[in-house]
Amino acid sequence: MKSLISETHSITPRRPAFDFSKSSLHWIKDDPIASNILNVIHPITPAPERWFCQTFREALPYIQDEKLKQAAIAFIKQEASHSYGHTLVNRQLHIVEQHLQDYLKLLDWIFDDMIGSNPLGIKLKNEKLKKHWLKTRLGMVAAAEHITGVLGHWVLNAETLEKSAIEIELFRLLQWHGAEEVEHREVADAMFRSMSNSITLRTASAVFIFPLFSILAILGIYQIMEKDTEFPQPFKIRDYLRAARQDRVPKAQMLLKAGMRYFNPKHSPLTEGNTQQALNFLKKMGS
Ligand SMILES: [Fe+2]
Ligand SMILES: [Fe+2]
Repeated sequence: MKSLISETHSITPRRPAFDFSKSSLHWIKDDPIASNILNVIHPITPAPERWFCQTFREALPYIQDEKLKQAAIAFIKQEASHSYGHTLVNRQLHIVEQHLQDYLKLLDWIFDDMIGSNPLGIKLKNEKLKKHWLKTRLGMVAAAEHITGVLGHWVLNAETLEKSAIEIELFRLLQWHGAEEVEHREVADAMFRSMSNSITLRTASAVFIFPLFSILAILGIYQIMEKDTEFPQPFKIRDYLRAARQDRVPKAQMLLKAGMRYFNPKHSPLTEGNTQQALNFLKKMGS
C-alpha cells in the first residue's frame, strides 16, 4: 500500500531550551504594535494544539498506513511541545495571566467542549456518528494545519523582522514552531484523507475553521492591545496595515490567497512552504 505521506524525512520531535526570563511584551523594540499583533500566537496556541493531539490520538487506532501512523505520533509530540513552549511564554507575559483569562477560557471551551470529543458536551453513543464526528474534526485539524504551515513558512522567511531590533528568544520560539509546522505540514491532510474522501466535508471544515481562527486572532489582538499597560490603545486596521507593509506581520492578502488555495480539492500541503529550508533551520538551531 502506498503511503499517504510522500516526504522521505522522518519527523523529529524536539524540545529546545528557551530562556524567557528577560522576554517582554514589546519584543520588537521599536514596534509595540507589531509585537502585540504577533503576541497573540502565545495565548491562542495551547488550546487548539491540545485539541489536534486529542483528535489524532482518537484517530490512531483506525490508521493502517504505518508510515502515516509514525508521522502522526511524531506530530502529536511536536504539537505538545509547541503548546508547552507557548504556555511558558504566557506565564512570563503577565498580561496573559492577569487580563486574558476570559479569552483563555473561551479557547478552552471551544476546543475542549464545543468541538472536542463530545460536541457541545454531548456524549455520542452511536458508533457511526462518533466516527463521522472524528472525520469532521480531522477535516478541521487539516484546515487549521494549512494555516499554521503557511504562517510557519512566513516566519521562517521574515527577514525584515530578523533584521529589526528584537528580543531573540521569542523570535527563536516562533521560528522553531514555524519550522516544525512546515516539517509536518502534510500529516493532518493525510490523516483526514486516510479516513475520508469527502471533498464536501473537507471544504465545510475549512469554511468553519478559517473564520473561527481569524475571529479568535483578532479578538486576542484587541485584548492584548487594550490591556497593555505600557502602551494601551485600541487595535486599528491602519496600524495593522502599516506593520504588514513593513513585513513585520503577515499580510492579509497573502493569508486570503493561501486560504483560497485550500479550496482546490487537489491541493497538496507540499505545494506550500519548503521542507529543506525548515529542516536546515532546525539543524542550525541545534534542536
Ligand atoms: Fe504547532
Ligand atoms: Fe502543526
